Amino acid sequence: MKKVNPFYEERAIPVGTYKELKNLCLKPYDKDTASPYTKTRVILMNGTEFEANWFMHQFNRHCNNNDIRRELAAIRRHEQQQQKMIASLKPIDETDLETTISYEQLAIDLTAILAKHVKDENVKSALDFALLEDFDHLYRFANLLEMEEGKSAKDIVKKYTEIMPGRPTIAEHRHPFDSINKFICNMSADLFTKLTANIITGAEQQTMNYYMNIANVHKSEMGRKLYSEIAMIEEQHVTEYGSLLDTNCSWLENWVMHEYTECYLYYSCYVDETDEDIKEIYEQMYLEECGHLQKAAEMLEKYEGKEWKCLFPCGGDFPELLKFDGNIDYIREVIENTVCYTKDREGYIEVQELPEKSDFRRYNKQVTKSENQVPSHMVIKEYIDKNGEDYRYQVKEHPIEELQKRDEDNTSVGR
Ligand SMILES: [Fe+2]
Ligand SMILES: [Fe+2]
Ligand SMILES: [Fe+2]
Repeated sequence: MKKVNPFYEERAIPVGTYKELKNLCLKPYDKDTASPYTKTRVILMNGTEFEANWFMHQFNRHCNNNDIRRELAAIRRHEQQQQKMIASLKPIDETDLETTISYEQLAIDLTAILAKHVKDENVKSALDFALLEDFDHLYRFANLLEMEEGKSAKDIVKKYTEIMPGRPTIAEHRHPFDSINKFICNMSADLFTKLTANIITGAEQQTMNYYMNIANVHKSEMGRKLYSEIAMIEEQHVTEYGSLLDTNCSWLENWVMHEYTECYLYYSCYVDETDEDIKEIYEQMYLEECGHLQKAAEMLEKYEGKEWKCLFPCGGDFPELLKFDGNIDYIREVIENTVCYTKDREGYIEVQELPEKSDFRRYNKQVTKSENQVPSHMVIKEYIDKNGEDYRYQVKEHPIEELQKRDEDNTSVGR
């Protein structure tokens, strides 16, 4: 792979070159012909821009230096423009539920790709753990989509991602105390580990925000309930991933890391993208991010006397780029080995090993007491009542025997 270092990118677009308002809306992809991963990349970059914006707003609110706050405002204005442009790539005829299928496909394949490559065991465990939960969400939403719109989610995810139960959503409701993880140290962690924690936190946060916003505008009662339940799990995921991030770095160091993450993601998307128009947009955005990054690095040096190189002891060359592809075998393996896991504070444990009085059991019972009214269970039950069996897309039999039956929704695995 050719070495790319955004700190030294000579084509970087300097901060202060704002777009005309008429250019903020771009030509959307065609939902019927676009690759599934063109859709997931748009969701990923939209979420990354949301994170950039909110991080910089929080920084502004915790900073007592107006010169720094002015520079933040200037770059944040760019981040806002970028977010509008990326968001406009989603076509108007793609329904909220169709978009949701792509959100979950992103959650699944992005998590699997990161988990396959990351070296830090603690971060890898967090990814494998939540992977099975987003995998299950895809299955629940796919059943809702078929029931409400008569559309097959397989036509959206194509052959890359299976649609079948993972760790059943009803088993995912855990006590908040169990959602905190050990945090990494930016000084000692390798670059890919740092990027992983940043990327997945932004992506899951976007999913959480999306469900928080659309639950009450969905047109059916069933859908409103399902979005609300799954949004509660996304809150857990955001807490789990967000608590992996280094808590000891300064706001300015964190800013540099945020811009670097944006550079890495746009560059990866640029290389990976198959739609020629969108590819060009990603390249443009990458060059803009290089401008942000170089400015943030300059601020770090000016106000903290630190060179960006202290944060990147191996230099700032990009590690292996993100490349979207199916992960069917990997996911099956994780299901086989860990479907019955739950969390026990910072660790993971087979649910059968937990005592009756554990926080997990206490909390899970509290919120799922009326099992037949748990939305993630209701949606499958309703689908089976109407169609005789659930909606799935599998390349072969489900690896867990209890989850093979298609005429009954299992609510005991993982609980
Ligand atoms: Fe950005
Ligand atoms: Fe998630
Ligand atoms: Fe940026």
